[in-house]
Amino acid sequence: MSTLLLNLLLLLAFAHFSCFLLLVPVSGKVFLSIDCGSSSLKPRTDNNSIVWVGDGPYVRTGEIHEVNAPTDVPGFDSDVVSTLRAFPSRNKNCYSIDIDNKAKSTTAAARVLVRANFYYGNYDNKSSPPTFSLQFNGNKWEQIVTTMDDITYTEVIFSLNNRSNINVCLAQTKPHNIPFISALEVRSLDSDAYSYAPSDYPLFIQLRVAFGTNTIIRYPEDSFDRIWNWIGPLSSTSTLLRVRSNAPSIKVDIEDKPPEAIFRTTLTRLNSSEDIAYSDTTNLTVPLNFNAYFSEVIKLNSTQKRSFNIVVNDNLDNSFIFPKNPVIPPYGRALEVHIVNVTTFNSSFSLEFFRTNDSTLPSLINALEAFTFGEKLVQGTNPKDVKALGLLHKTFIQLQDWSGDPCLPSPYTWDWVACDSDNDSPRVTALYLNDLGLEGTLPDFSAMSALETINLNNNSFTQGIPEFLGTFPKLKVLNLADNHFSGAIPSSLSNNVNLKLNASGNPNLSCTDTSICNTGLESRIPSPNNSNSTDTKPRIPPPSNGKSSNALAQPITILVIMLSGLVL
Ligand SMILES: *[C@@H]1O[C@H](CO)[C@@H](O)[C@H](O)[C@H]1NC(C)=O
Ligand SMILES: *[C@@H]1O[C@H](CO)[C@@H](O)[C@H](O)[C@H]1NC(C)=O
Ligand SMILES: *[C@@H]1O[C@H](CO)[C@@H](O)[C@H](O)[C@H]1NC(C)=O
Ligand SMILES: *[C@@H]1O[C@H](CO)[C@@H](O)[C@H](O)[C@H]1NC(C)=O
Ligand SMILES: *[C@@H]1O[C@H](CO)[C@@H](O)[C@H](O)[C@H]1NC(C)=O
Ligand SMILES: *[C@@H]1O[C@H](CO)[C@@H](O)[C@H](O)[C@H]1NC(C)=O
Ligand SMILES: *[C@@H]1O[C@H](CO)[C@@H](O)[C@H](O)[C@H]1NC(C)=O
Ligand SMILES: *[C@@H]1O[C@H](CO)[C@@H](O)[C@H](O)[C@H]1NC(C)=O
Ligand SMILES: *[C@@H]1O[C@H](CO)[C@@H](O)[C@H](O)[C@H]1NC(C)=O
Ligand SMILES: *[C@@H]1O[C@H](CO)[C@@H](O)[C@H](O)[C@H]1NC(C)=O
Ligand SMILES: *[C@@H]1O[C@H](CO)[C@@H](O)[C@H](O)[C@H]1NC(C)=O
Ligand SMILES: *[C@@H]1O[C@H](CO)[C@@H](O)[C@H](O)[C@H]1NC(C)=O
Repeated sequence: MSTLLLNLLLLLAFAHFSCFLLLVPVSGKVFLSIDCGSSSLKPRTDNNSIVWVGDGPYVRTGEIHEVNAPTDVPGFDSDVVSTLRAFPSRNKNCYSIDIDNKAKSTTAAARVLVRANFYYGNYDNKSSPPTFSLQFNGNKWEQIVTTMDDITYTEVIFSLNNRSNINVCLAQTKPHNIPFISALEVRSLDSDAYSYAPSDYPLFIQLRVAFGTNTIIRYPEDSFDRIWNWIGPLSSTSTLLRVRSNAPSIKVDIEDKPPEAIFRTTLTRLNSSEDIAYSDTTNLTVPLNFNAYFSEVIKLNSTQKRSFNIVVNDNLDNSFIFPKNPVIPPYGRALEVHIVNVTTFNSSFSLEFFRTNDSTLPSLINALEAFTFGEKLVQGTNPKDVKALGLLHKTFIQLQDWSGDPCLPSPYTWDWVACDSDNDSPRVTALYLNDLGLEGTLPDFSAMSALETINLNNNSFTQGIPEFLGTFPKLKVLNLADNHFSGAIPSSLSNNVNLKLNASGNPNLSCTDTSICNTGLESRIPSPNNSNSTDTKPRIPPPSNGKSSNALAQPITILVIMLSGLVL
């Protein structure tokens, strides 16, 4: 078998972000393309018939910048990456997309594909492309490493599991590395798509390439707008061959519904006694799970046969291949083969397609996708706490810029809360509403029953101190100082000997215990740990080496597609 290393001229990246909400009543499908940093109120249809909207309705923080985008990136509309949104402040900044509630019942178990796109373009004139953390629905997604010139994107597929909100958050992880994003896309998939992944695990794409095509394929050929890269032009001396199917139609009734276009042309060998092989030496995360797609291109007569075995890392083991070897591509139809749990050998892997001894024709391949599983999806912050935080949100405009999961992923909590753990479903243990200029009265947030600290210092709250503040079973610190509270202090508070209560600086409060109102009280039971005040939130110091201890457990999975070789 002759071996040829073909460097695939794959595009290093692309950028698209879209937010076009297409609610089809029957299926409640989402096809939303958000052009980040675009303040355009008018949807814009790009060269791929994808409708892009500005990001205003989905994010409340950050700054808009413009860059000169590369104009000749096939499959990508340069306008989409010519604006970006950067987030120089805050612990994390989030895009939040609500899925239509009426459609919720039908999308309950549905899977979505979310793609985030980045093009730095030296927007800040610092020639310093940043690295930062990307998160979705409280889960870690990826440590994004941007470059000077590439458009990069990354993609996650996960089940909504009855959630009606998708959020994507960016968090700073290194000093001076300001997170930014160029485009964000959400596409509903069929609920049984990529179902070899359990519904409580996300899939991160590592590779998606159509070998026979002579261009990138995405929407509208792929109704889910997956991006199928191509391998570039074949050299004149190549022993590889692109062959067009002569089938009048190709029926694609396989579970992951790839576009018919990837079956119209295939990659095979010129010489019928040679085989196709694919190997990759980039440092991919493992184990990988592949979908391989095949379709026969000619109507075979009785003396012709095309049949081959898939061999992973030189090991003729059928046990991770479904359906089992050999592969016999069907004519006028499509075949999908799962190859699961592929690990690398000596930091590379190979997939070889060896003809069986009765095959008269060379092997062929239409397309490959590869995924890794992420960590189990989190439930998210306790729903009672989330609901109560929503009341605060609704009441005070100063808090409304915060979205995404309040606690997760740890340590990227909202600046004004603290949480009890980095578990699946943490509780909120502290509210730091001090110094925010809040006015009026507090909504009843007593459902947040795990609260230990409530700091309302230096606001303009008026009227009586709400009774519900006395109902928190674990409350240890309540700072009401420097407000405009009036009336009496509820006895549930003044009688709570475990509570460190400070109501000083409220001139209209009528006080029986003057120490509460003049200087504030330490907890009235001795406690060795109480001397250190906990009513100021400990801030997370930016990690010096750029990776916080809680940074991504998964290695980087940014989708910079670099196929190092098709070995023939
Ligand atoms: C759209 O396609 C036309 C024709 O191919 C091209 O001239 C134009 O630059 C493209 N627009 C963008 C924004 O990529
Ligand atoms: C970057 O430099 C260019 C050219 O010197 C200038 O026009 C532009 O305003 C600068 N942008 C920023 C964000 O400093
Ligand atoms: C989604 O909701 C339905 C109906 O309320 C319930 O039966 C189902 O178990 C839920 N699924 C998940 C994954 O929570
Ligand atoms: C086809 O490949 C076989 C095995 O590599 C080789 O022996 C044969 O010469 C090749 N035929 C042509 C026409 O190149
Ligand atoms: C591959 O990645 C691992 C873990 O990130 C690293 O230890 C190793 O040095 C890398 N190997 C190569 C060849 O880059
Ligand atoms: C089958 O097709 C091949 C290639 O076109 C041809 O050479 C061969 O004669 C055909 N055999 C029969 C039995 O038709
Ligand atoms: C995947 O392969 C590794 C070693 O190759 C093995 O230890 C592991 O059990 C496999 N996992 C599954 C889910 O089959
Ligand atoms: C692993 O790769 C290195 C460098 O490519 C090579 O020198 C070494 O022999 C390989 N080891 C094995 C076991 O294949
Ligand atoms: C093909 O291989 C199988 C198993 O290796 C063997 O039993 C069979 O005889 C071979 N057929 C031919 C035509 O060589
Ligand atoms: C009180 O809060 C305001 C913002 O509402 C802030 O400007 C001021 O510095 C705060 N006062 C103190 C003493 O922290
Ligand atoms: C205290 O109450 C008086 C009388 O109701 C009112 O005029 C004054 O503004 C209040 N002071 C504060 C700090 O709320
Ligand atoms: C109570 O609050 C006031 C005003 O913020 C502060 O000066 C005082 O030190 C606090 N008392 C205690 C015991 O923390």
